[in-house]
Amino acid sequence: MTAPSTVLVTGGAGFIGSHTCVELLDHGYEVIVVDDYSNSTPQVFAQVERITDRFVGAVYELDIRDRASLSAVFDRHSVDAVVHFAAHKAVGESSRSPVEYYDANVGGTTSLLRVMRHHGVRQLVFSSSCSVYGDAARVPLDEAAPARPTNPYAASKWICEQILADVCARVPGFAVLCLRYFNPVGAHPSGQLGESPLGTPENLMPYLAQVAVGRKPDLRVFGDDYDTPDGTAIRDYLHVMDTAEAHRLALDHLADGPGMRIFNLGTGQGHSVLDVTAAFGVACGTPIPYRVVGRRPGDVAELVADAGAVARAWGWRPTRGLDDMCRDLWRFQRLHPLGYQLPARRHRFLPGRA
Ligand code: UD1
Repeated sequence: MTAPSTVLVTGGAGFIGSHTCVELLDHGYEVIVVDDYSNSTPQVFAQVERITDRFVGAVYELDIRDRASLSAVFDRHSVDAVVHFAAHKAVGESSRSPVEYYDANVGGTTSLLRVMRHHGVRQLVFSSSCSVYGDAARVPLDEAAPARPTNPYAASKWICEQILADVCARVPGFAVLCLRYFNPVGAHPSGQLGESPLGTPENLMPYLAQVAVGRKPDLRVFGDDYDTPDGTAIRDYLHVMDTAEAHRLALDHLADGPGMRIFNLGTGQGHSVLDVTAAFGVACGTPIPYRVVGRRPGDVAELVADAGAVARAWGWRPTRGLDDMCRDLWRFQRLHPLGYQLPARRHRFLPGRA
C-alpha cells in the first residue's frame, strides 16, 4: 500500500473538516472537497486558501447520499483516500429527529462506501466520536471500553463503525482508521478559520464565544448536580489543530496495512463547564455571565480520553491546552463576530483549479 496523495474530504467545509483541509494542504496533499453546506458555507475555502497560500483542488456542493453526483466526483479525480466527516452532529437535535440522523449519518456512509467500492478506493479515515462510549463507568476511557451510545447521534456513529469493521473484514485490502474525538474546540491560530455554526450553537465553546460578543446574554450551564468537584460536567477538550494533525497522520498511516483500527483523540485532561467558562473569560478579558439550569437530556457526567494508543502508534500527542483553545477561538470570534457571511448564491459546482 502506498500513502495517499489525492484525498477526498467529505464535509470539508465544516469545523474539523476545514481545519483538516488546512493541515493537508500545508503538507502537500491534493484536496478535493464535497459538502452540502447544511451547517457550513463555501466561504470557508477562501479562508483555507488564504491561510495556506494553496488552492483546494475542487469543491463540489452535494449530499453524499446522492450516489450519482458523488460517483461523478470520483470519475473526475483520481482519489487515493477519503476522510469522511460529512454528518449531522448535534446530540439534542438527534433525539428530536432520529430518523433524519440515521439517514444522513448511516445512509451517507453506506452511499460513500458503495461509490468507493465502485471506484476501487480502499482507504478511509472515519470521523467518530467519544459519545459511542455513553455514560462511562470509569475514566479515562480507552478504546476497549464498551460502546453504549445514549442518543441517536452517538448510535449512528457506532453503527457506522460496525459497518466499517464488517467491510474491512470482508473486502481484501480495505483500510479504515476510525478516530473517536472527545471535544474538538478552538480555531486556527490566524483567527481566519473557526467554527461558524448556522443558527444557535448547541456546543459549549461556540456558545461561550457568542456570549462574549454579545449575541447571547449568558451561558446556560446544564446542571451543577453531577458527581464532579464543582458539580458541572467534565469533558476532554481538544484543540482543533491537534485534531487536524491527527487526521493527517492517519492518512500517512493508512498505508501501514489493511483492516480497521480505532483510536481515541483527546488530551487526557478533563475540564468542567465552569473551568471552561472561567478560562474563556480570561481569554476575552471579561468574565462570562452564566446561570445554572437543569441537566441537558442525554448528557453524561464525565468523559476523558486515554489517548495512549495513538501516542504509542504514531507519536501523536496534543500540544495545545485549554488556554490556547480559548485564545484562538476568541481571536476568530472577535474577527468574525457574526461568523462567516453567507454568499449571495450557492454554487452547484466550483470549478477545480490546478
Ligand atoms: C457532544 C458529543 C460529542 C460530539 C459533540 C459534537 C456526547 C457525550 N458528546 O459533546 O461526541 O462530538 O457533541 O457536537 O454526546 N453545555 C452547557 N451549556 C451549553 C452547552 C453545553 O452547560 O450551552 C455543557 C454540556 O452539558 C456538556 C459540556 O458543556 O456538559 C460540553 O457540551 P458540548 O460542547 O455540547 O459537547 P458534548 O455534549 O460533550
